Amino acid sequence: MKQPIKGFSKLSKQAKIEWLVSQYTSDPRASLDMLEGYWHNQPEVQKLHDEFIENTISNYYMPFGVAPNFLINGKMYAIPLAIEESSVVAAAAKAANFWLDRGGFHASVLSMVKVGHVHFIWEGKNVDALYRLFEAHKSQFFTNTESITKNMRARGGGIMSLTLVDKTDLEPGYFQIEARFETCDSMGANFINSCLESFAQTLRDMASANQEELGDAPLQVVMSILSNFTPECLVRAEVRCKIKDIEEGSGIENQEFAEKFCRAIRIASVEPYRAVTHNKGIMNGIDSVIIATGNDFRATEACAHAYAAKDGRYTSLTHAAIEGDEFHFWIELPLSLGTVGGITNLHPMVRFAHELLGYPSANALMQITAVAGLAQNFSAVRSLITSGIQKGHMKMHLLNILNQLEATDAEKEEIVAYFKDKVVSHSAAVEAFMRVRAKGQAQA
Ligand code: MEV
Repeated sequence: MKQPIKGFSKLSKQAKIEWLVSQYTSDPRASLDMLEGYWHNQPEVQKLHDEFIENTISNYYMPFGVAPNFLINGKMYAIPLAIEESSVVAAAAKAANFWLDRGGFHASVLSMVKVGHVHFIWEGKNVDALYRLFEAHKSQFFTNTESITKNMRARGGGIMSLTLVDKTDLEPGYFQIEARFETCDSMGANFINSCLESFAQTLRDMASANQEELGDAPLQVVMSILSNFTPECLVRAEVRCKIKDIEEGSGIENQEFAEKFCRAIRIASVEPYRAVTHNKGIMNGIDSVIIATGNDFRATEACAHAYAAKDGRYTSLTHAAIEGDEFHFWIELPLSLGTVGGITNLHPMVRFAHELLGYPSANALMQITAVAGLAQNFSAVRSLITSGIQKGHMKMHLLNILNQLEATDAEKEEIVAYFKDKVVSHSAAVEAFMRVRAKGQAQA
């Protein structure tokens, strides 16, 4: 059995690696070389990465791709996408080109409010007294956060509202201070959490100074934290075109395509098994932009899925309709993003992604990201209802299979050309590789 280690975080990077590879890998020298091989060749850039987290031993590369030709609200974008899945960038680029000729994407932010809570327990009898005290002290809650909110207020943001919420129907004695925030171009997690911790202290002080009025029942703050569920931080993106202009290209009639597309979306709306996969495809686009732009994909994922289930059943995040002679396809979802703060100004690739997008505001980035999700879903559903997804997906995956087989560049070129008009499967790719390799060996 492996021995635990004390004080690992205090070791030097080199010592951490040496301990780790000697304990956990079969070929420590090879592991060490591999880890070092992924270090940045400029020590100051590597140091930056080392300091993003604790116990950094190397970097984890992901492909950083780009899908050009996105026309959004009349402006052209090349959207950066960081993702490991073969077909995602190709699908985004395909949808961008399709809609470029049909008026492009339209997007708008519906609201940008973020929420956080001080969760506390108070089991007193006189709830009215608690409400009265809270209202009487409300200005104190604001005053006590002034040093935290000063810069945000100067940028036009800050605390929008504070409400006392009775949740005793869910848990005995459970109340919240619910706070709503405008965080401008920052995602705002640190700002919100700092405000909430200040509210918690003000609440404790309020309770201890007014024990008699609260009937001597103790007030216990359980926790103070932002919510990653931000249903009021909402963006909408859409496309529409005349059905006669669909000309989708795979031989299916325009009207049939539009109807089949809407039916596929309706299935995702009513069938959770399908909805999860459908929304996963949407998140392929959304997460890729979020990672490329240095935002928090875990928060976005959690929020998107909670939103998809907000009416009590998990459903599709996208919608489609035939409206007269038009095909209309749209998405509405919460996205809490930032274009300042976090690693947005630190990570060189993230800075580049923001430059590519023209240094967008958080509002603009929400729109671009929602468009990436809609585009991704359009391409997925389009493939699913026509050729099926494996044709395109396996074509993109072919290079992964060939790389696993350690094919040479010349072998890859020949095999990719061979599959141009054929369906790729893992076994067919291996077979083709063996054939080409044997031919090469025979010629040598
Ligand atoms: C694969 O990553 C995503 C899809 O399964 C999405 C979908 O089925 O809509 C293709």
